Formats: sequence, C-alpha cells, structure tokens
Amino acid sequence: MFPMARVFVTRRIPQSALDRLQAEATVDVWPEPLPPPYEELRRRVADCEGLLCLLTDRIDADLIAAAPRLRVISQMAVGYDNIDVAAATARGIPVGHTPGVLTETTADLTWALLLATARRLLDGVRSIEAGQWRTWDPLGLLGTDVHGATLGIVGLGRIGAAVARRAVGFGMCILYTGPREKPDVAAGVGATYVDFDTLLRESDIVSIHCPLTPETRHLFDARAFARMKPGAILINTARGGIVDHEALLEAVRSGHLGGAGLDVTEPEPLPADHPLMHQERVIVTPHIGSATVRTRTRMANMAVDNLLAGLRGERLPYCVNPEVYTKNGRG
Ligand code: GLV
Repeated sequence: MFPMARVFVTRRIPQSALDRLQAEATVDVWPEPLPPPYEELRRRVADCEGLLCLLTDRIDADLIAAAPRLRVISQMAVGYDNIDVAAATARGIPVGHTPGVLTETTADLTWALLLATARRLLDGVRSIEAGQWRTWDPLGLLGTDVHGATLGIVGLGRIGAAVARRAVGFGMCILYTGPREKPDVAAGVGATYVDFDTLLRESDIVSIHCPLTPETRHLFDARAFARMKPGAILINTARGGIVDHEALLEAVRSGHLGGAGLDVTEPEPLPADHPLMHQERVIVTPHIGSATVRTRTRMANMAVDNLLAGLRGERLPYCVNPEVYTKNGRG
C-alpha cells in the first residue's frame, strides 16, 4: 500500500525535496502561486494519506475529519499555529514541523530588521525616492543606537537565543522573559530573566520570539505599549497575532514608540493600504525570516523526511505531538 500512498503538497516546494517525495508516493502538487482556497484544500486532501502543508494553510478539525485516510501531516515551517494539533492527535495523526534548520537564518533576518528599523533605513530610502536628500542634515533621520542598548527578548527558544548571541557582539545588555527561566542558554549570552513588565520597562529594543498561542495572542496590546520605554523599538519575526496592530500603530503615531520592524502581520499579507505599510519609522517585510535558498531547501527536505516517516508508519523525526505514539502504542 505504501508505494501507492497519495500525498497533497499545498504549494511548489524546492525540487530536490519534491523529487524524493515523488519517488515514493503519488504526489499532487498545488500549482498556483497563491495557497489553495480552503474548500479546494479540503477536497484535495479528502482521499490522501499524507499532507505536506505550509503556514498559509488552515488545517482545522473539519478538514482533518474530511480526510479519513490521512496518516501524517507535515508542515514546512517551525510554527504550526495554523494546524489544529489536538484534532490530529485525537485521530492519532502525527504532525511534523521543521525546527532547527531555520534558526540562524531567521535570527539573521531579525537582525536585519532590527538594524534597519533602529537606524531608519527605509525612511532614508523613501526620502531619497521622494527627492528629499538635499544635504547632510544634523537633525535628519535620527534613529536609535543599537550598540550598548538593552535588548528584551520575549521567548528565549532556539531563535531567541540565536538573536541574543548576535547581540553579544553589539555589546548589548540582554533581558529575556517567557514561561520559564532558561539558565543554561541565558548563561551563554549573559542574559537576565525578568518578568514581562520589567522587560517592557527596561528594554530599548524588544524582539518577539515566542509562538502564537491563546496566551500570547495580542500580548503586545495598548497596555503593553504604554509600559514600554519612550522611544523603544519593537521587532516581530514570530507571528503577527502576538501584536495588536491597531494599538501598535497608535503607539508609533503618537511618538511613544521609536519604531517597529515586522516580518509577520495579521492578516498576511497586510492590505496594501493598511496605515502600518506607510507609517514612518515602521518597516514591514513579507514574512521572509527563513527565506534563503539553503534554508528553504533544508526545510522542504525535513518536511519530506517527516512525511515519508509517517507514511511508513515510523516515528516522525520532528513531531509536535509525540503523544500520538504513546496513546496508540506505536513508535
Ligand atoms: C515561519 O514562520 C516558520 O514558522 O517556519
């Protein structure tokens, strides 16, 4: 049965990974540049044993219920808030993701955004494009120093720690918060654990690296922004839903915040006429944290490793719900 397993892949992925998958399964690849609409996705998955999906696909309980043969869901991303993991677990379906391979690449992008926002690179480019570069201006485009500043990291996981390692080179004071202390990781970068409000109060730059969960949805709301230092900068390369964008806009417009760099928004894409897209001191990039040739190729291959393991009835190398194995006595 395994060679005949049917798999739906929700977008074109790097070819080397697709080749490996096609060698072992009957693969239906969604050919369009935009994600399959929900109903189409549901229809295509209905008779599949395997699903290789992306963070742009809503994999909810209804979709899972409509796919009685589904044996494995493999997401080509580290985050999986788009998947109803509880519904998958209830069916004994393992869910795979791609941790680790994108850590350093996403940390690089975080730093690109952090530096660009603090030093107002986009405002500078926009001013040139608007014909406003007339002289060296002692009061023009003043930003925030990064070196020696206090960096507050929300979530010292893999990516948060990689961002912190880079901050050491900038002589930054590093604070972090999260559900629990990470003494070993923190010691390596000289980071200090503080509660959320202390981090907001003390940090010149706050960078978000926690997952989106019911607890972190709109963690950054008007109350949180009011507690941040005047002139502080917010960087988000995690998930857009962690930030209340209306409250952020107000905090930047009022001059309370010194700027924001967002690689993630809610929704994605943010409408082209959304005020944050045109706001001075704000940089929005189109969710490109892991977007390098090498990293996307690794992610795709890791997603295929997970998918093939699931089709073979083997334990997924990177499984977000390993309890499916104990519950079902497998693995
Ligand atoms: C990207 O956002 C990912 O979760 O991999």
